[in-house]
Amino acid sequence: MSTLSAANTGTANASADFLPLQGTDYVEFYVGNAKQAAHFYKSAFGFQSVAYAGPETGIKDKVSYVVRQNKLTFVFTTALYPDHVIAQHVQLHGDGVRVLALRVGDATSAWNETVSRGGVSCMEPTTLTDKSGEVVISGIHTYGDTLHLFIERENYKGVFMPGYREWKTIYNAPSTGLLYVDHCVGNVGWHQMDRWVRFYEDVMGFRNILSFDDKDISTEYSALMSKVMSNGNGYVKFPINEPAEGKKKSQVEEYLEFYRGEGVQHVALATHNIVETVTQLRDRGVEFLQVPTSYYDDLLNRVGTIDEDVQPLKELGILVDRDEEGYLLQIFTKPVEDRPTLFFEIIQRKGAQSFGKGNFKALFEAIEREQSARGNL
Ligand code: FE2
Repeated sequence: MSTLSAANTGTANASADFLPLQGTDYVEFYVGNAKQAAHFYKSAFGFQSVAYAGPETGIKDKVSYVVRQNKLTFVFTTALYPDHVIAQHVQLHGDGVRVLALRVGDATSAWNETVSRGGVSCMEPTTLTDKSGEVVISGIHTYGDTLHLFIERENYKGVFMPGYREWKTIYNAPSTGLLYVDHCVGNVGWHQMDRWVRFYEDVMGFRNILSFDDKDISTEYSALMSKVMSNGNGYVKFPINEPAEGKKKSQVEEYLEFYRGEGVQHVALATHNIVETVTQLRDRGVEFLQVPTSYYDDLLNRVGTIDEDVQPLKELGILVDRDEEGYLLQIFTKPVEDRPTLFFEIIQRKGAQSFGKGNFKALFEAIEREQSARGNL
């Protein structure tokens, strides 16, 4: 059964937080074709062009495109040479998340505090400067080939960071109302969840605020287990999934097989109006998992009164769940690459701080139908 940890009482003493995080700074994806990926996120998801780095800005071995929507910043990076480490990442994993970058006030302190607690450095504190100021970056490894970079940018006024120039385009699709990263979920290997829970506790000072075992998250066929890790102020939440034994292959196993290892499963993007946002996304070609329409027959009996009309939720396939604090609305895209790996969640919270446990069964049955169609169940 799921357990809401006693630690989730909001009593964390901010002065005791050795890794104060201001939120997600950006998410960087290593992809096969950054130019086209950036266009997809602009046209389909409503991001705006922000910055570019590549040979024209003095970076000879790769290109990066930066796009933004409200507080969401995505970076798409592609190597220019086949033996480049970024090209090898893409060859192994397909397109996927390489960096979950976290905003800090002091990147040197963040590195010292985490590395002294056992974090494995991927970048010592490094100061990048140009005429717009300076950005300090440091970082550590997390699960798989994924990195956490700590970004200190209080003394920077430029478009993104040194090495980048402003990227202006004639084509700029309207926003879809996506606001910020609500949470990022990692899939880890068999029996590795608790190891990564300890990593986030010991190295980064996070707390386990919620746990789901295989009785919460199992359908007739497959199962997984999950623990939600949160930093002290709750701005950064990383649920960690591992596969569990079921009659057939867990969705986490399918991910691990196709990603060739551990990695980011989904990034949840917040909106203040999910009906409006999902209508826009759907009309621009984003594909969503669909639950059977019978899900809506009994909806208001299950979740109580909600502000939204049920009909548009049903038409779009938006799910609803309630906890002690309120309710939430959520929907999941199909994988956004050819491999069945990374996908997105769109979420609107109306008080609820949980993750939609009441939807797991309907949702995972929808995922299994997709898995089965791929021959992977
Ligand atoms: Fe989620």
